[in-house]
Amino acid sequence: MRLFFALWPDEGVRAQLAHWARELHAACGGRPTRPENLHVTLAFLGSVEEAQVAEVERAADSVALRPVSLVLDGPGYWKHNRIAWAGASVVPPELESLVSELRGALGESRICFDAKPFVSHLTLLRDAREPRAMPVFDPIEWRLDGFALVRSVTLPRGSRYEVLKSWIV
Ligand code: 2AM
Repeated sequence: MRLFFALWPDEGVRAQLAHWARELHAACGGRPTRPENLHVTLAFLGSVEEAQVAEVERAADSVALRPVSLVLDGPGYWKHNRIAWAGASVVPPELESLVSELRGALGESRICFDAKPFVSHLTLLRDAREPRAMPVFDPIEWRLDGFALVRSVTLPRGSRYEVLKSWIV
């Protein structure tokens, strides 16, 4: 199974992000992420044996959760991978701790994950052009109340993400 841990938006945040994605698409083209797939990756595990999933879940059980708001305050664009995204210029310390506790617990359980540093973003468009001017949006306030273990299922029409388990404050 292809797995990752993520922040999973509620419907309100998802609707606001879908609005950003539509406006950005007009400026940069590309392939929009399906609204139901929008997320912030906390740790990307990649391929995990089914027998190891319970251990992955146990590792996450030890993470302390504190409710906190994440303000998505701007769209951005990365030239190197042609991704347009929504991001937070300030990552609250509670979210930094959540990521480091989660990654620490995975490490202690010897569960492999991509060690690239956490970058707080949601991919809105892939294969996008660099926009001449970045659209300006009202910030989105996202009340974070937990995180999820998500399975990525590859379909002929692209990936579908299924939440396997959620940890809620
Ligand atoms: P991205 O949105 O910046 O592409 C599911 O693939 C999620 O895991 C995506 O959000 C993707 O980030 C993220 N991810 C992080 N590391 C990855 C990796 N090594 N391979 C694929 N996806 C990765």
